[in-house]
Order: sequence, then structure tokens, then C-alpha cells
Amino acid sequence: MKFLKFLLLFITIQVSAQQGGMWIPSLLEGMNEQEMIDLGSKLTAKDIYDVNNSSLKDAIGHFNGGCTSEVISNKGLILTNHHCGFGQIQSHSSLENDYLKDGFWAMSLDEELPNEGLFIEFIVRIEDVTTQALAGVTDAMTEKEKQSTIDKNSNALQATVAKETWQDTKVKSFYKGNQYFLFVTERFEDIRLVGAPPSSIGKFGSDTDNWVFPRHTGDFSMFRIYADANNRPAKYSKDNKPYKPKHFLPVSLDGVEEGDFTMVFGFPGRTNEYLPAVAIEHITKDYNPSNIAIREAALKVIDANMKASDEVRIKYASKQARIANAWKKWIGENLGIEKSNAVENRRTFETTFTKALKEKGLEDKYGNILPEFDKLYKDFASINIKRRNFIEVFLVTNELMQMTFRAYQTEEFINKNPENFEKAKAGLISRLQGIHKNYDVTVDKGVFNAVMPFYNKNIDASIYEKTAFTNLESALALLEGDAEQVLKKLNKDAAYIYAKPLIAEFFNSIDAEFQQKNEPITALQTEYMTALMEALPEERYFPDANGTLRVTYGQVRGYSPRDAVYYNHVSYLDGVIEKYVPGDYEFDVPQKLRDLYNAKDYGQYADSNGKVPVCFLGTNHTTGGNSGSPAIDAHGNLVGLNFDRVWEGTMSDMNYDPEICRNIMVDLRYVLFIVDKYAGATHLIDEMKLVHPKKK
Ligand code: ARG
Ligand code: GLU
Repeated sequence: MKFLKFLLLFITIQVSAQQGGMWIPSLLEGMNEQEMIDLGSKLTAKDIYDVNNSSLKDAIGHFNGGCTSEVISNKGLILTNHHCGFGQIQSHSSLENDYLKDGFWAMSLDEELPNEGLFIEFIVRIEDVTTQALAGVTDAMTEKEKQSTIDKNSNALQATVAKETWQDTKVKSFYKGNQYFLFVTERFEDIRLVGAPPSSIGKFGSDTDNWVFPRHTGDFSMFRIYADANNRPAKYSKDNKPYKPKHFLPVSLDGVEEGDFTMVFGFPGRTNEYLPAVAIEHITKDYNPSNIAIREAALKVIDANMKASDEVRIKYASKQARIANAWKKWIGENLGIEKSNAVENRRTFETTFTKALKEKGLEDKYGNILPEFDKLYKDFASINIKRRNFIEVFLVTNELMQMTFRAYQTEEFINKNPENFEKAKAGLISRLQGIHKNYDVTVDKGVFNAVMPFYNKNIDASIYEKTAFTNLESALALLEGDAEQVLKKLNKDAAYIYAKPLIAEFFNSIDAEFQQKNEPITALQTEYMTALMEALPEERYFPDANGTLRVTYGQVRGYSPRDAVYYNHVSYLDGVIEKYVPGDYEFDVPQKLRDLYNAKDYGQYADSNGKVPVCFLGTNHTTGGNSGSPAIDAHGNLVGLNFDRVWEGTMSDMNYDPEICRNIMVDLRYVLFIVDKYAGATHLIDEMKLVHPKKK
């Protein structure tokens, strides 16, 4: 009993050890390095980020601007999530070659499939350029003047910074504009698809299991970077060679135990960790629910049609996944905020902040911030929702409205720049072609009927019978002729006539009002960040995610989502079989995988208990964009592939709580097991460096 108490105490202490935060890799020395060591890491800050020697960061690539990927062989082999490569897998798929359904494996280099437009970007170097970026910025300036000075400074910096000809640069703002960093980057553009499991493995559990644990998804796919004869970035060419990386991650066969150190290294997209309570309340009580309702209505239609037809299923796979993903996340976010009392806690924190202002004589300087937030949000709430509703209806869910929206933008552009008519027309044509590649008019009309009532009382679905946009040929015929002819035809189209006043209202009044009311909030948020760091300097502050490379660390750990329920830190292949529903669109399991399970044919990939681990949980603080990020062990080896968070923990974008925030990773042994035993792609296994860090 005593021992149990001690053990419990030990566990809580470990969980509440300093965790959370997405840290800048070039600034880990000191606090972060020490925290990582306390959590079990054997890595130094320099092992992770070093400018002069190869380091872990050289293996981490920003995948197509939205996900993370890592190099896992000296021939440029790349690992990322199945859902990150989904668009590419889909684009190579047809009813005959259904790679979404059946998976795809290139058995040699020449079977690897090129992907137009796909790119991977590495970070060469990060420099603090705060002083240069803020040169000449004064308090007396308006927000616009400040920004334009900063932009000018950034451009000048980028023009003069030392870099190789094939490298790029960018300057990004951190801590709400309190700090600036310059990034030198290398972008590779010849990226080929190497392998993907069938969706029944890579997307196993689909939307039902998305954002939840216990999870059994093998959410991975593989690509390869090709470079020119000098090993430099190049456009696609059949003469390009597999890229030789500065560093690649060895893969551990020893897996993880509860309490083991893990670090997730990747490109988190966006967080909002320093919001006032009033903002969290607005987001969870009003903003999220209205978006959830619109998506729910659209999904009802899309899901039913996808179940009824394989053709529709392939066409709408990506779109459906995108719509469903945020829909479910927002529901979880609301759950977590409620469960963790986040709004109340934030208010309590604000009392502490206000007290600190008093004690430090900062009241005059910063005392107005919180009352001002209350005032601004009261005024901002309804326009924020209205604007977002428009976006959800016109740009996220309904495709006919999206086409009219693009046409409207084109008309506006032509009116202002008649000399660029041909270019604008070409742009619109390619947009329409893009939409029609995966378009089904019955589905879209159903979506229109379902979502439009959320925005506009006048729902006239008869436009679907009259418009030219629902068919690619007739849509393109609309665009034949000179500017005058095209605009004339366009303005006679039924869908365009219906949508145009709504879109005009959006630009002229809704979005304009939104911008006007959002600007002071952004400015105040900057001031709040400064005030926080000044009033409470002993707190840990990390900059909100902004799509730049970050390190987050924690430990492998289960969690308790609600009273009397505890989720173990790891799931096994046995759970896949438990969830198996023959023929089900979410929970079917391929015959081959069932055979391997029945024969216990696990090769070197089982845990010491004889079971194949599938997913595991950690306290790493991640967000969207961390998909595909490597989970790295105490020694710098790859042990997991990040792909999700638990439902109650998705609130970590606003409120990280080590009690319930968990990231979900695929165990690398499951990846290897599928590649080797399921797909028979042993040449890929041979290419990797498999290690046993725990068995020395
Ligand atoms: N929730 C994960 C993320 O945000 C996985 C999404 C893909 N899976 C899905 N069922 N839609 O990206
Ligand atoms: N699946 C997410 C992504 O696309 C990562 C999970 C998350 O948001 O934590 O990046």
C-alpha cells in the first residue's frame, strides 16, 4: 500500500515535470536541454541542431508545406503519414489501379511514381534577426506602418544574407512579433511515391477512430527525394538520383516503455496558447459549434453518397477526410476545454497576472489589456462567426459556390487589370479543372441544400439545373472569347447570378468589418505577450506554432479520459483484429494481415510479450502540421511516427494540460512489420539502419 502510494506520487510528479511547449531548435541550450535530460534524454542540444555538423534537424523535412516527414535512409527514403501522402496516393488511383484501397509498393527505383507540385523543405540554418527586423519601428507607428517597415527590413535581410544559390530564405515572426528569425532553407521538388499500405491499414478506423484512443491505425506512407547530379534540389527529371542526406534517422527495433523519453521534431502549424479567457470562451461556446453544425450537415450527404458508390468514394476521399477531420477536432476541443475547466483556470491566471502588474508597478502600462480584450471580443464575436460561416459554405463544403467564388475573383481582377485577361482566364480554367477532377453534381447539390440554409435563407437549388459550372465542358465554354464576351456570359449564368451578390457582400462588408475588428485584437495580443513576459518572467514561454521547425518533448504515458477509465500507453495488433468488421468501410482488415496474425508471423517486430505494437501515446505537445513527425528516442533513433492527438487533448492548441493531452504515434515496428511482412518490400527494410539501443 505504501509502495503504491509512492508509485502514484512518482507518476504524478513525472507527469507534472516540465513539459509542453514547442521550442525553437536553435535555442535549446540551457533550460530545454536540462528538461530533456530530466525526462531521460541522452541527447545534447547540438545533437539536435548544429550548423557546422550534421544533426537531427537535417533529417526533418517540411512535407508539402503542411505535414512533416523524415529521412530514414542514405538514399533519401522518406517517411510520413498516409494521410499526408493521401492526395498523391489518390491522384495515382483509378477504379482499375485503386492504390487507396489496395495500397501501392514500388519494388524498385524505376517503379517509384513522380508527383507534380509536391515538395519537401529542409532547414539549413536559423538566425535571430530581431534587431534588424525591428529597426526603425516605433510605438508611434500604426500597425500597418510597423508591418511595412518590418517587411522592408526582412526583404533587405533576405537579399544580403549569405546562402548558396539553390537555397531560399524566409523571415518569420515569433512571440506575436516580439522576436524575428531568419531561415535558410532547401526545397526539393522531385519527390516520388514509394509505398503506401491499403486504407484498411493506413486509415484503419477512419473517422470513427480519428482523434481517439485506443487507436490501431498504420498511418504511414513512403516517398523518396531525388536530386540532381550534384545532390542538389532540382525539378523532376528521369536522370535525377536518390538524394544523399546530411543525416538520416536510424530505426530502433527496441520500441518504448511507459516513462521513456520521446521527442517530436517537426513543423507544427498554428497554436494560440496565450489567449485571454474571453477568447477561449468565444471559440468554444459560439465559434466552434457553428462550424461543427455546417460540416455535420455536409458530411451527412457526402458520407451517404460515398457508401453508395465506389466512384464517389474515390472522388470524395480527400475532401471528406479534410472536412471530417476539423469537424471532429473541434468537438474534442470543446470537450477538453470544458473538462479541464480551461476558461475558469485562465481567469484565475489572469487574476495572478493582474496582481503581478500591481506589484511591479506595471498597472499603468498594461492594466488596460484584459478589460480591452473583453470589450473587443464582445464587438468581434458575431462578425467572426458570420465570416467563418461564409467560408465554410462557399469555400470548404459546397463546390458550385466555390467555382462561382473563383469566377467572381477573376471578374474583379479583370476589371482592374484588363491587360492580364488571358492570365486570369488560365488561372480560372485550372481552378475549374482541379475541382472537376473530383466532382459529382448529385453530391454537390445535396451539400448545397444541406449547408446553404446556414448562411442564406434563399436556397434556390434550381440553379443546378441551369448553370454551366456543374459540367467541365460547359464551364470551359463559358470562358471562351475575349474579356467582354466572357464577363457577359458569366453574368448570365444562373449560379453566378445567385452567388454574386453574396460574394460581393462578403468582400465589401463582412470581410472588411472582420479585418477592421480583428486588427486591434491582434495588436493587443502582441502587447499582452510582452506584458506577460515582463510581469511574470519566471513562467516558461514558447512561441506559438507558426509552421516553423520545433522540438517538443515528453514521455510515453497512458491517460485517464474520464472517471474510472484508464487508457494504456500502447495498442497491439490484437486490437486491430478485435475491431475487425468484415467488409466495413472503416474496420475491414485485409486477409493477408489476418493470416499473419493467425500464424503469429511477426518476424523481428514483436514486443517482448510476443505482440506487435501498433500505436503509442506520449505527452509531447503537438498540433496540425506535426503529422508525419518523427518520435525520437533518448539516443536519436526513430521509434514512432506522430499522426494524431487524443480527443480530450486537442484543446492543447489553446491549453496544454499534461494530465490529458497526449499525442498518438504509430510504433515504428508496426511500420516495419507492414513493409516487410505484409507488403514484402524487403528492399526498403534493407535500405534502413535498424538498431537495438536498449540491448547493448
Ligand atoms: N486527426 C489527424 C490529423 O489531424 C489525422 C487525420 C487523417 N485521418 C482521418 N480519418 N481524417 O491530421
Ligand atoms: N493529424 C494532424 C496533422 O495533420 C496531427 C495531429 C494533430 O493535430 O495533433 O498534422
